[in-house]
Amino acid sequence: MTTEAPHALVVLAHPRADSLTARVAARARARLLADGHTVDVLDLHADGFDPRMTVEDEPDWADRDKVYSAEVRAHMARIEAADTIVVVFPVWWFGLPALLQGWIDRVWNYGFAYGRSRPRLAGKRMLWLGLAGYSHEHFTKGGWDDLLDRRLRIGISNFVGIEDAHVHLFHDTVATGAHDTELLTSAEKVITTYTHTPPTP
Ligand SMILES: Cc1cc2nc3c(=O)[nH]c(=O)nc-3n(C[C@H](O)[C@H](O)[C@H](O)COP(=O)(O)O)c2cc1C
Repeated sequence: MTTEAPHALVVLAHPRADSLTARVAARARARLLADGHTVDVLDLHADGFDPRMTVEDEPDWADRDKVYSAEVRAHMARIEAADTIVVVFPVWWFGLPALLQGWIDRVWNYGFAYGRSRPRLAGKRMLWLGLAGYSHEHFTKGGWDDLLDRRLRIGISNFVGIEDAHVHLFHDTVATGAHDTELLTSAEKVITTYTHTPPTP
């Protein structure tokens, strides 16, 4: 008997192909493959994803069965196919880059991710990997770790029925150089630990 390999979607939101964020996403992909997943990489910038909400993709509360654009439905299919979703992004203004925020706004839409029917995304796992310029100390003092955890894990993942969600932030990402190798190794560890931890019920 063959069992299907778990499938992961790695979402990258960064304009620069050689950014530390892109390199973390590449490590995430490699690690997931090594751990037996099949992997779909969604590079929002390279794909030219338009984060601006459109009339076609705005939920219509008077037409709850509204069919969204073909582009958004294709993105929904990629999310639906994944057992694990890994989102890799730089922390900008203590939040998500507009590109990624727009992807959530347009794609994680009414009737798909929330509302209307059964929670279609329940049972999936989600890992948010954020790269932040400031130090861990600065984040803790300012309550930014908490803020991002609440917003991403509770406000998005849990809201759409994904209970098994984690937010991991990498700090001091502006002072690049020797520190990069350390950060990339620690990113691999985070992913391995996550994929080797049994899903939370
Ligand atoms: C527009 C912008 C906003 C930023 N806002 C924050 C922030 O709010 N907090 C923080 O710690 N770092 C912030 N940074 C620093 C980035 O998080 C950092 O440059 C990035 O993680 C480095 O990784 P990269 O090489 O992949 O861009 C910001 C950077 C930019 C360009």
